[in-house]
Amino acid sequence: MVLNVNGVTREVAVEPDDALLTVLRDQLELTGPKYGCGEGACGACTVLINGAATRSCITAVSSVAGKEVMTIEGLEKNGKLHAVQQAFLKTDAFQCSYCASGMSMSTVAVLKNSATPSDDAIVKAMNGNICRCGTYPYIMKAIKLASQS
Ligand code: FES
Ligand code: FES
Repeated sequence: MVLNVNGVTREVAVEPDDALLTVLRDQLELTGPKYGCGEGACGACTVLINGAATRSCITAVSSVAGKEVMTIEGLEKNGKLHAVQQAFLKTDAFQCSYCASGMSMSTVAVLKNSATPSDDAIVKAMNGNICRCGTYPYIMKAIKLASQS
């Protein structure tokens, strides 16, 4: 099967039901997306599919044929971090960073839908992304900062 990941065409040998997360991590060595719950409840595995935040642990690889998959590895351009990544760094938002990839990709999707979302809209959109370290106030600060850049 052929996948379009981070703007590059990649060929992978998969079963149709294989989880996209497993294919990304184990075959394409894109280890930014993390395995947390494995059942769509924590957001650690979030990637963008045609720009929409998607839980890759519960997404069959066959369902993304012909679609654009973006992982956190695809955010940086020409050596420059994406504004969302810069905002998370500037606010020192993470502790262990296990949630960072998923939080970043969900934030990119949130800001794509609305450049200056309200606090309520951010909380609602980010609700499925869990941070075990509980750095939510800093994550909120980072998202606000990214929305101003
Ligand atoms: S690992 Fe996919 S949502 Fe938790
Ligand atoms: S910083 Fe540790 S899970 Fe979010």
